[in-house]
Amino acid sequence: MKTTGDGAKVSRRQFLTSTGAAVAVPLIVPASVLGRDGQTAPSERVVMGAIGFGGQGPWNTDELMKDRSCQMVAACDVDKGHLNRAVKIINAHYDNEDCKGYHDYRELMVRKDIDAVMIAVPDHWHALVATEAARQGKDIYGEKPLARTIGEQQAIVRAVQQNKRIWQTGSWQRSNDNFWYACEIVRNGLIGNVTKVEVGLPGGQNSGHPGFGGLANENTCTPPPPELDYNFWIGPAELMPYVKCRVHGNWRWNYNTGGGQLMDWIGHHGDIAHWGLGFDDTGPSEVEVEHAEFPPPHAIWNTCPKYRVSAKYLGRVTGYPNDVQMTLAGTGTESYPDIKMGCKWIGSEGWVWVDRGNFDCSDPRWKSKKLQLPEELRKVKLYRSTNHWRNFLECVKSRKPTITPVETAHHSAIPGHLSLISMMTGRKLQWDVKAEQIVGDPDAAQLLTRPYRAPWQLA
Ligand SMILES: NC(=O)c1ccc[n+]([C@@H]2O[C@H](COP(=O)([O-])OP(=O)(O)OC[C@H]3O[C@@H](n4cnc5c(N)ncnc54)[C@H](O)[C@@H]3O)[C@@H](O)[C@H]2O)c1
Repeated sequence: MKTTGDGAKVSRRQFLTSTGAAVAVPLIVPASVLGRDGQTAPSERVVMGAIGFGGQGPWNTDELMKDRSCQMVAACDVDKGHLNRAVKIINAHYDNEDCKGYHDYRELMVRKDIDAVMIAVPDHWHALVATEAARQGKDIYGEKPLARTIGEQQAIVRAVQQNKRIWQTGSWQRSNDNFWYACEIVRNGLIGNVTKVEVGLPGGQNSGHPGFGGLANENTCTPPPPELDYNFWIGPAELMPYVKCRVHGNWRWNYNTGGGQLMDWIGHHGDIAHWGLGFDDTGPSEVEVEHAEFPPPHAIWNTCPKYRVSAKYLGRVTGYPNDVQMTLAGTGTESYPDIKMGCKWIGSEGWVWVDRGNFDCSDPRWKSKKLQLPEELRKVKLYRSTNHWRNFLECVKSRKPTITPVETAHHSAIPGHLSLISMMTGRKLQWDVKAEQIVGDPDAAQLLTRPYRAPWQLA
């Protein structure tokens, strides 16, 4: 907050808006404030808060703070230990004491001086935190998968669109050269028309871990540690007894809070599969489980370690010249060794495969280390970003869409959500891509949303 001459407080935003570009800057303003000594002027800075500081939050925060157009001023976490760490790291970065810590994200959101938030909370919290951020006028760097259910995703999309917010999804592979290059090859038809795409995700789960096969009982259920507000942490999900290896980091292995390897990775390789095909605004019409092995439902980790699903994208729906069959499967010797980790598009004239740090294709001409197609072949030029976090900050300033806007994240995660529902019901699903509804299976359609624990409600 700044203070005006009459002592009334105005926000930085109000100050910038009311003074406008023609502001008469006092002559004694130092060059640094104006950004003339190589520093970014405050008016050009995106003032941010970080929400969720476990595994991914610190990485995002670090990447955002490296960019001088970001000014991180607040942090929020329901675990005091994680919150203290966040405040310490942010203050150390700026060598000041300006970062304020919050236990409740709603208190951070009402701050008018904060332009944008980074959200890296577990999946069962994405919808509530993101919709609140959009309503409070914040731009959002939000983690994948967009949310825990398709219904929650729709709520986020609506909130972001209605409030005209800039959204970047944590699907950072889009800002990496090899994924971009692979997608340009496919999109420019250099492997002909794609008929099949194999999306290989991690298979299995750490089978030596007590959470794997372990049950929640008097030995594993303990009181939560004092630094963690477990009631807040579990939030809108079902209130299950506290088990250490069901919380930080490991929430993804229980369907109450996460979606297993499938949902953890759909926003990476599933997202890339869509990008290569130009399917950012469409989806599969049929989804069918081929195989799924579930642990007992009361196991601490009850998500599927072995899964294989087939999804059909109909040409008449997607506008692609033909139908495309997608296989989504856990990879590795204990799962499906025929599917490689990453994304492989198979077309009428060849194939392309890409993974983190890896690229291969059937045509030796495209194996260039430059990862750049000759200009004459680039009839379709895909959005180019070489730094995912900078892309977000630039778009906040320009008000142009990021490389992974909210609608893209929504469509990228839908095949994962439908796979999960097909795995849970054991049935083939028909999906109406436009209406975003499961057709002819009311029981399966029930799984498009989840009940919320009171008092939490998704507006
Ligand atoms: N883009 C990537 O490569 C990538 C990698 C890992 C995780 N992720 C995503 O990041 C998100 C977080 O995953 P993680 O592995 O960091 O989980 P984590 O459990 O390690 O961290 C989550 C943090 O959020 C806090 N938290 C929980 N509820 C909160 C609330 N209501 N308000 C404030 N803080 C809250 C927890 O206390 C914890 O500190 C997930 O959506 C995950 O899918 C993305």
